[in-house]
Amino acid sequence: MNFEPTYESVARHRVPDWFHDAKFGIFIHWGLYSVPGWAPHGADIDKQVADKGWEAMFANNPYAEWYLNTLRVGDTATRRHHIATYGPNFSYDDFAPMFNQAVEKWNPDDWAALFQKVGARYVVLTSKHHEGFLLWPSKRTSPHKAGSYATRRDLVGELTDAVRRRNMRMGLYYSGGLDWSFNDTPVRTQKDVHGTIVQSPDFVEYANAHWRELIDCYAPSVLWNDIGYPAAANVPELFAYYYNAVPDGVINDRWRQQPQEREMNFAEMADAPTIEHCDFTTPEYATHDRITEKKWEACRGIGHSFGYNQNEGPDDYLSVEELVRTLVDIVSKNGNLLLDVGPMADGTIPELQRERLLGLGAWLAVNGEAIFGTRPWVTAQGQASGGIPVRFTQNDESLYAILLGTPEAGLIAIEQLQIREGTTVSVLGRSEPLACTQESSRLVLSLPSLAAAPAHTLKITPKPQQAF
Ligand code: GLC
Repeated sequence: MNFEPTYESVARHRVPDWFHDAKFGIFIHWGLYSVPGWAPHGADIDKQVADKGWEAMFANNPYAEWYLNTLRVGDTATRRHHIATYGPNFSYDDFAPMFNQAVEKWNPDDWAALFQKVGARYVVLTSKHHEGFLLWPSKRTSPHKAGSYATRRDLVGELTDAVRRRNMRMGLYYSGGLDWSFNDTPVRTQKDVHGTIVQSPDFVEYANAHWRELIDCYAPSVLWNDIGYPAAANVPELFAYYYNAVPDGVINDRWRQQPQEREMNFAEMADAPTIEHCDFTTPEYATHDRITEKKWEACRGIGHSFGYNQNEGPDDYLSVEELVRTLVDIVSKNGNLLLDVGPMADGTIPELQRERLLGLGAWLAVNGEAIFGTRPWVTAQGQASGGIPVRFTQNDESLYAILLGTPEAGLIAIEQLQIREGTTVSVLGRSEPLACTQESSRLVLSLPSLAAAPAHTLKITPKPQQAF
């Protein structure tokens, strides 16, 4: 199929099966901000915005990758930390040689091996975040910086190779709206986010050239643009160029060229209509409460930040239990989870993040059959006796009822489930089938004693005809 540079044409692109099947990807935020690795200690961003509004959040931004902006917006904790640690004359750009030096130590296969081990099916790396520093040695680096504002090593290319060698897909993030090397106006309000998108003709050309270079050199399986795109750019032309080069690639929804009509919080943004064409939407620190027709991908850090933040401790990170339940909930509603890792400048993945990833991976090693390659069922949520929430997924043969808790041994009833004759029910990870009976609209099962786990999967074959 050849795509033409119009929305009408690119809208014919269908979300490929691999992206529906993948469910779990790793996002990586790595850049100059990884050198200080610092943001004020606080709560999740959606909560900060809901509780205190956007301006207070920007002065206390929990996202460590926003370090440069938080430095600029006023007498912030970040500015005080910066001066105390590096002195008053140390500029943000002085982190560039430090980053370049630190990444010499990095071994891309260590990352790829870890991501493969924990069950991730794809990886998305920040090729350029809002700061403007490039993670690949581009032909074009920022004209507003002396020298090359890019890594010496080709971090994008090396990680792409390592990830593909381990049979995962590789995607690229690019900040196509904000580039603080072109526009250093601080972002203080939500309006400023779109309002400071660089609109100059030279930036339109620069961002387009970068996306094309990334497509030509690395053929990413995901184009993950952030914030928006300059109004004068021809977005469908870029989309057609991409689909013609990578027909089974996917494009996210953050290409908005016009400002939002009104201020919104994170939950509202998740439900707001997106641009004319995208393969999937990208709720951030937000989720959906039901199955949506449109494919979506939730993204968040394991803690409150995407970039590494040295101030975060165990209580700031999702526990393994929360992570597992978050993933299961998202998958039951037609989403993927793009879970972010914030490495240190030298590529070290902080121990707490590694531990959470491995915990999720251990659960997936037993229960992955109920996640990967599945589709939502007719309903996402159900209820088991004892107040245990249930999430459903299905594949061609079976229905999976995932219990978000560990029930006691003995009888358990799942509401509104009508099995067919000859049905087998088993718990993933155990071989013996369970005794089950249908009691009007409830399915009653006899459970063995189960070791505590974040969730347990009941595999029901064949699938019940429908939920009541
Ligand atoms: C954002 C942020 C950011 C992060 C991201 C990931 O809107 O500005 O720092 O990269 O989206 O979803």
